[in-house]
Amino acid sequence: MSYSPSSKRYATMIYNYCGKSGLKIPVLSLGLWHNFGHVDEFENSRNILLSAFDAGITHFDLANNYGPPPGSAEINFGTILKEDLGKYRDELIISTKAGYKMWDGPYGEWGSRKYLLASLDQSLKRMQLDYVDIFYSHRPDPDTPMEETMGALDHAVKQGKALYAGISNYNPEQTLRAAGILKKLGTPCLIHQPKYSMLERQIEAGLLDILEKEGIGSIAFSPLAQGLLTDKYLGGIPEDSRAAKPHGFLRKEEVTDDKINKIGRLNEIAKQRNQTLAQMAITWILRDKRITSVLVGVSSIGQLNDNLDAIKNLEFDPEELKEIDKILK
Ligand SMILES: NC(=O)c1ccc[n+]([C@@H]2O[C@H](COP(=O)([O-])OP(=O)(O)OC[C@H]3O[C@@H](n4cnc5c(N)ncnc54)[C@H](OP(=O)(O)O)[C@@H]3O)[C@@H](O)[C@H]2O)c1
Repeated sequence: MSYSPSSKRYATMIYNYCGKSGLKIPVLSLGLWHNFGHVDEFENSRNILLSAFDAGITHFDLANNYGPPPGSAEINFGTILKEDLGKYRDELIISTKAGYKMWDGPYGEWGSRKYLLASLDQSLKRMQLDYVDIFYSHRPDPDTPMEETMGALDHAVKQGKALYAGISNYNPEQTLRAAGILKKLGTPCLIHQPKYSMLERQIEAGLLDILEKEGIGSIAFSPLAQGLLTDKYLGGIPEDSRAAKPHGFLRKEEVTDDKINKIGRLNEIAKQRNQTLAQMAITWILRDKRITSVLVGVSSIGQLNDNLDAIKNLEFDPEELKEIDKILK
């Protein structure tokens, strides 16, 4: 049966301007790093994506290497676009990235113009698209002049193969430099994609201030610390969880007693708020108005719906925040 999206898809989602740009992004975006590769069940991936769109999630985040195997998330996404979402292309913000290893030889990773522009062409082919909305430098390259990497992003935008440029995993100093170069080139940096969650708070020590000052939006990746910030690991490592999967990036050794102890205490606060821990972890990120969007990953529609309900209660009592800080110390 052909897909027809919910007519209520824009009824409840909240959209924020991305930094000082005119582009609005949903407060909850969906990432395709896990659960969309050839190792995953295609119909489950499709159902997640379509349910997300039905709920007002307009932004889908990819990268050249998402899978496994690398590239397969873009291929599957392209198939779903073609079969189900093609008509709604103008309602979608699709991003991809280049930076990590994609092919053999000296031009298959990092930040050269050669790699970035070839990779974008490959991504467009895999997704069967003429353009992406956002093209990111996935990581800073210590050995390539920043001017070259930013020049490649600017070129992609001027070619019309991307509408906006973004950076990911750049530290505060690198971000300032990148933003300055892009501004001079006439392609302002739209967005930064850093890791941010209750368990990973480094960006509070400078990056967020810079983004605000520079008018750059921010989208927090791994907001649930890859699933740790949910109640799923409280009773051990479930068989179908990311930590148990051979291709999952969360390793069993990362599920430590110290983290589980903190997560158990956070779970109690979430319960008092009538939220699941996943919901509280998402709302906790959105308490900071410098954050444009929270970029979640999900392996089921149940998880997606759970996370979507986070936006029903975005308020925090100052006492709750103090209590959370105490646990996280
Ligand atoms: N720029 C970068 O360098 C970079 C790096 C990493 C990620 N990202 C982006 O950020 C996106 C999100 O990253 P992430 O997948 O690590 O995010 P995450 O939201 O921290 O973790 C997602 C995982 O958490 C579990 N989960 C999600 N919602 C849940 C719920 N309500 N209840 C119980 N468990 C739940 C699922 O694990 P199970 O599979 O165990 O069910 C899911 O696969 C990626 O897809 C990618 O687009 C970017």
